[in-house]
Amino acid sequence: MSIKIGLLGMGTVGTGVVQILTDPSGRHPLLQEIEIVRIGVRDATKPRSVGLDPQTFTTDLASIVNDPSIQIIVEVMGGLEPARELILQAIGNNKHIVTANKALLARHGEEIFELAKRHQVYVMLEASVGGGIPIVNVLKQFLGANRLTGILGIINGTTNYILSRMHQEGGNFSEILADAQRLGYAEADPTADIDGFDACDKIAILASIAFSERIPLSEVSREGIRHVSTTEIATASRLGYVIKLIARAQLVSQGIEIGVYPMLIPVEHPLAAIGGVTNAIAISGEPIGEVVFAGPGAGQGATASAVVADLINVCALLSSPGHPLLTCSHSGYAQVVAPRENKFYARFTTLDQPGVIGELGTIFGRYSVSLETVFQQNRSGDIAQVIVITHRVREIDFWQSVAKIKELPTLQEVGAILRVL
Ligand code: NAP
Ligand code: HSE
Repeated sequence: MSIKIGLLGMGTVGTGVVQILTDPSGRHPLLQEIEIVRIGVRDATKPRSVGLDPQTFTTDLASIVNDPSIQIIVEVMGGLEPARELILQAIGNNKHIVTANKALLARHGEEIFELAKRHQVYVMLEASVGGGIPIVNVLKQFLGANRLTGILGIINGTTNYILSRMHQEGGNFSEILADAQRLGYAEADPTADIDGFDACDKIAILASIAFSERIPLSEVSREGIRHVSTTEIATASRLGYVIKLIARAQLVSQGIEIGVYPMLIPVEHPLAAIGGVTNAIAISGEPIGEVVFAGPGAGQGATASAVVADLINVCALLSSPGHPLLTCSHSGYAQVVAPRENKFYARFTTLDQPGVIGELGTIFGRYSVSLETVFQQNRSGDIAQVIVITHRVREIDFWQSVAKIKELPTLQEVGAILRVL
């Protein structure tokens, strides 16, 4: 069975989606059922990095949502209009929707989801929050047994990327922002990221799913990162904190407290270690306690992964019989192979005499085992412990060099060999 889809937009995210769909080998078998019928863009003559028939592209996006052969619309064009109008039209034509458009859902979710309910179609939104982190489906499906009480997270990749680099290098705000834009993390208008609008959209979406109630966006408190200077970052650092743009939604007895603010986080807090474009989201609930999800929060591949996961879900629901995501889709055993390369830690007990470390180094070198670290510790009498950490090397080379080292008259014992991640 072939499932026909149309894309609205093929920029950063859309290109990632098409790359996955046109190279399905090794991914979920259902991807082979998906056929891209049309892609709507602003400029159909623009050279594209994917090798699709130029006839696939059109600037007439209405023709896609009105095409009776198309079953699923993937909206990755962004913005409020004409995305909203096109999605409503598609739903009116009984098409399922997969969208990454948090700005649209946070503002017009009610209208879109109510129409979808009437037409009995799905509106899937995994990519709208957390980039590649599958947080929406976790909240919708896998934490359903819990009474959820709180969400705490870093959910804007661009600001986390900027703040992390400011912490590391004290760098220039606009230069770092330009890098985030070049890497495809930032929104078309970076104000959405910098001033916290994007994180507000996302926390409103997450909270509405977690607490099963709509969240009026106007009531989400918002503070961006423009006023976070390198002075604040350095001072916070001296006091044992890092500054992060934190989104928070908490169930309290009177309702839900919800907002986005730059906050000082103690360095030992798990969110303090989340650097770059990575997002992390901690969900609290009863009885589960706290679960934390982390991963790339923006960018082409990560976001496309979430879009395509939604596509697979809808395809699974459209295909019959049974539910292909819940039934077994295996037809054979995998070819399991031994690890070919690793980084190693080794501790050698040796005589403490001149030339021993040199002998070890020479043998490793002879077998192309490059060393990252060599040091000696715990000298006792004429015995020393020599610790070696290698670079990533071929397993066979490493084990052959260890066999040779074992022949050294100065070697007393191979104390330990461990692999290093
Ligand atoms: P983008 O790179 O700017 O791509 C937008 C695409 O939509 C382009 O192909 C553009 O056509 C087309 N388009 C835009 N407006 C159009 C219009 N009025 N008529 C016809 N075509 C139109 O955007 P993106 O970064 O991929 O983001 C897409 C969506 O994903 C947004 O909702 C964004 O918030 C969301 N998102 C992005 C990321 C990310 O990391 N980038 C992560 C999560 C979610 P042309 O190619 O001809 O210009
Ligand atoms: N601009 C967004 C961010 C893209 O930086 O997180 C992912 O939603």
